[in-house]
Amino acid sequence: MELIITPVPVPTLFGGTDKCMLMTFHDQTPLRRVEEMRADFVANASHELRTPLAALSGFIDTLQGPAKDDARARERFLGIMHAQATRMARLIDDLLSLSRVELSAHVRPDTLIDIVPIIRQVADELEPLARERQVAIDIDLPDTQVPIAGDREELLRLFENLIENALKYGASGGKVVVSLISAISGEGVPEVRVMVRDFGPGIAPEHLPRLTERFYRVDVGDSRAQGGTGLGLSLVKHIVNRHRGRLLIESVPKSGATFTACFPQARTPSAV
Ligand SMILES: Nc1ncnc2c1ncn2[C@@H]1O[C@H](COP(=O)(O)OP(=O)(O)O)[C@@H](O)[C@H]1O
Ligand SMILES: [Mg+2]
Repeated sequence: MELIITPVPVPTLFGGTDKCMLMTFHDQTPLRRVEEMRADFVANASHELRTPLAALSGFIDTLQGPAKDDARARERFLGIMHAQATRMARLIDDLLSLSRVELSAHVRPDTLIDIVPIIRQVADELEPLARERQVAIDIDLPDTQVPIAGDREELLRLFENLIENALKYGASGGKVVVSLISAISGEGVPEVRVMVRDFGPGIAPEHLPRLTERFYRVDVGDSRAQGGTGLGLSLVKHIVNRHRGRLLIESVPKSGATFTACFPQARTPSAV
């Protein structure tokens, strides 16, 4: 709380002036919270980057010293170094995407695009991962166009994150269903809902409200093993917000999870 005291002369009924003090209280809590969040974010990002960097430096030292003439160790260490470098690159990519979306958060996308081929493209691109995890991607999309006011690149990233998560964390369910429906929101707004459903272990209720926080992971080890950064759902949330949409997360532990991205329906020329 910040307090400012200013002397103010107040005219009296008899033509003179009274000396008064004006006290203004400024609630600094929101500002401090933003500062704290920013500091936390920088600390988290640095920590996440430092871990693979430390591993890389360590292996470089080993390769220059004790393992200098050991061809087998060299192969193995180079493999690990490659994985760590990839992890750093992925983290930087995600950080950059996040900052780009944040920068344009207040500018609503205004291009009309058909969302159906975007979802199909992502599903096609993730087919190799699905095969590797032995998961079938079941797509249930309309044959007609479904235009929304959207940013193509951002929507690609959004669905990539949701479907990739379902394939990675819900692999044990053997199936991921991606579907699209038109519906009316609670406020009566016509919207397009894209659902990504898996049948894996699901997520315990206490984690649900925190999933879209940056770097939040239910199981850090599991996420790292899957090449995760903990930024995916935060990015998804930012993209949905920029599109003036909503992200719904539902899960029944042991039965799977459903992530639904809702977008306001574009007003088609005939509806105007
Ligand atoms: N479909 C899902 N099933 C179970 N857990 C999930 C699912 N999607 C996300 N999660 C959990 O949410 C966490 C955050 O996801 P995300 O932000 O995409 O980060 P990342 O995938 O990089 O770890 C994941 O680490 C995982 O624990
Ligand atoms: Mg992810």
